[in-house]
Amino acid sequence: MASGTESWILMATGRTPTNIAVIKYWGKRDEALILPVNDSISVTLDPDHLSATTTVAVSPTFDRDRMWLNGEEIPLSGDRFQSCLREIRKLADDVVDEKKGIRIRKDDWQKLHVHISSYNNFPTAAGLASSAAGLACFVFTLAKLMNVKEDYGKLSSIARQGSGSACRSMYGGFVKWTMGRDAWGSDSIAVQLASESHWNDLVIIIAVVSSKQKETSSTTGMRDSVETSPLLQHRAQTVVPGRILQMEEAIRSRDFASFARLTCADSNQFHAVCLDTSPPIFYMNDTSHRIISLVERWNRSDGTPQVAYTFDAGPNAVLIAPNRKSAGLLLQRLLFCFPPPADDELTSYVIGDKSILHEAGLQSMKDVEALPPPPESKVKYPSQKTPGEVSYFICTRLGSGPRVLADESLALLSPTTGLPK
Ligand code: DP6
Repeated sequence: MASGTESWILMATGRTPTNIAVIKYWGKRDEALILPVNDSISVTLDPDHLSATTTVAVSPTFDRDRMWLNGEEIPLSGDRFQSCLREIRKLADDVVDEKKGIRIRKDDWQKLHVHISSYNNFPTAAGLASSAAGLACFVFTLAKLMNVKEDYGKLSSIARQGSGSACRSMYGGFVKWTMGRDAWGSDSIAVQLASESHWNDLVIIIAVVSSKQKETSSTTGMRDSVETSPLLQHRAQTVVPGRILQMEEAIRSRDFASFARLTCADSNQFHAVCLDTSPPIFYMNDTSHRIISLVERWNRSDGTPQVAYTFDAGPNAVLIAPNRKSAGLLLQRLLFCFPPPADDELTSYVIGDKSILHEAGLQSMKDVEALPPPPESKVKYPSQKTPGEVSYFICTRLGSGPRVLADESLALLSPTTGLPK
């Protein structure tokens, strides 16, 4: 298997972004292969703020496959991890590392075990599509280590079998997951609609909303919706196909008004499907609803959408502004309604790209306290200030797709033991 010593360790490290759907995936037509009932479209978020990093190591000394997430060992026995591992192993190719004197033949990969360590640069518990970034990174990094030569479309179809939304994390910018027709899912893959540079003025602000309740997982929630919601069938067959075309056109022509209307409408319809499920599923809470009201009032008072909102399977709001100016005005409104708790620092309450904060004239708590009510609040605005409803805000932007981190010092596994550093 290897020339020379049998105690070598070979590693690869990759980084993969999260994505947020603007036309939602909700419902499977095949549970095992993870084939959806409709196409979906997402934006990829900047990996500097929201991404997964994964190191995969292989060595003849490893006696079983093992995985660690944020430093804790987790079982790799689940069907989804196993499907991804099996599919990547099937595509593995010869690997030669002259410097280390390592030679792995294609067939050796079936017998060799891997160690995998993954880390999210944002709180996993915050419910921010961590599984999408994690599963995509798992597949991407394994494929790099095993010298898989297939294109990213094929890799996306493998990531899909780990978690549906993970397939869209295989590219940067704007991404479409085509539902496909094939019973085996060969055409249910992600494609890039446009790179992040196509529309790089967009600013994204995520409100991480405090929540005590344990939410229904997406997997369980969408299974119940498929079984019980008549609205889901109508949505998948009649509404989404038209919206996908309109959204593609809005992205192509950078038409923010259409982009925002479609994004908000689709988020609201997804949550309507949840409510139409038996028993009903509630992902948004009162804080989520207050954020929607804030944006809707502003958008209506201006006559044209200033900001888009979208919510996944949890109460967090993802807000998309067309440019830095609107993002600053949004931040002012958000901080007026949801100020940081008195003892909190503004710099730990608004994280990510803090330059938006500074451009909006918000340097300190004093500036936040001095914020006037939004002008549209004169028309019956739910403006009571409620500290503590939002845990923190993340300011970010669109970002690029997966990449290999060649710098070995960034690896999460030790090159000598193959265990987490
Ligand atoms: C609401 O991809 O987490 O975020 O395929 O069962 O793993 P599984 O579900 P998952 O569902 C994501 C649902 C969503 C909408 C979306 O991302 O399109």
